[in-house]
Amino acid sequence: MANTGEYQIRLIQNQDDIDTLVLMHKAVFSNVLSGQIGNGFLSYYYQLIIQKGFIYGCYNNDTLLAFISGTLNEKELGGIKFLGKALWGVLTHLSAKSIASLFRHIKRVYFLKDVTINAELLSIIVKEELRGKGIGNKLLTHFESHLLANHIQTYKVFTDLKYSSGSSFYEKEGFKLYREMNLLGLVTRLYIKKLSIKA
Ligand SMILES: CC(C)(COP(=O)(O)OP(=O)(O)OC[C@H]1O[C@@H](n2cnc3c(N)ncnc32)[C@H](O)[C@@H]1OP(=O)(O)O)[C@@H](O)C(=O)NCCC(=O)NCCS
Repeated sequence: MANTGEYQIRLIQNQDDIDTLVLMHKAVFSNVLSGQIGNGFLSYYYQLIIQKGFIYGCYNNDTLLAFISGTLNEKELGGIKFLGKALWGVLTHLSAKSIASLFRHIKRVYFLKDVTINAELLSIIVKEELRGKGIGNKLLTHFESHLLANHIQTYKVFTDLKYSSGSSFYEKEGFKLYREMNLLGLVTRLYIKKLSIKA
């Protein structure tokens, strides 16, 4: 990253930036289910990740410019309330796009039911005007240190090839393609990364 004095990366531990996280998510992921079912769902989703998973934010003073979110165990993010919020979001934002996304999501879960890796990178977003400056890489370094500090050496991430630039980024960052799925015309990939413990 060009100037570490200009950008500060820290763990997000309170709800102050929820609205910004939601706006950034919607701006980038408007073509996948999570970005199509309303602010109420997304707001709950990011509150849950702060509580049960973790988010590192990249700030300039107090302005959030980029973030990475994840979980040590994806099962901790499920539950009845989560499903209820998601279902309510789907029902109140019904459209041809959201229905297609819902079917893709269900198909993806089915295709991957044998995958036993529970640690997951859920989202990484750098504001458009700041991309290509190494911020994504720096966030990933914090993310991976967090996993290693919790004795986790393998994690996964999903990305699609149409709406996300994730695939090229992840391949540069040492992820290996684990499985590719065609979800109703949308090619989606599961990448895995194994971390080595530095002596
Ligand atoms: C993917 C994303 C987080 C990368 O962040 P970034 O700050 O631009 O990435 P960096 O500058 O740290 O780049 C790290 C490496 O990945 C490469 N890279 C990043 N984006 C790339 C792209 N779109 N195509 C090709 N290579 C890319 C960089 O060239 C760099 O490699 P290098 O060190 O060999 O030069 C950012 O582009 C983004 O927010 N995209 C929109 C959201 C998204 O798609 N997220 C991923 C799915 S969850």
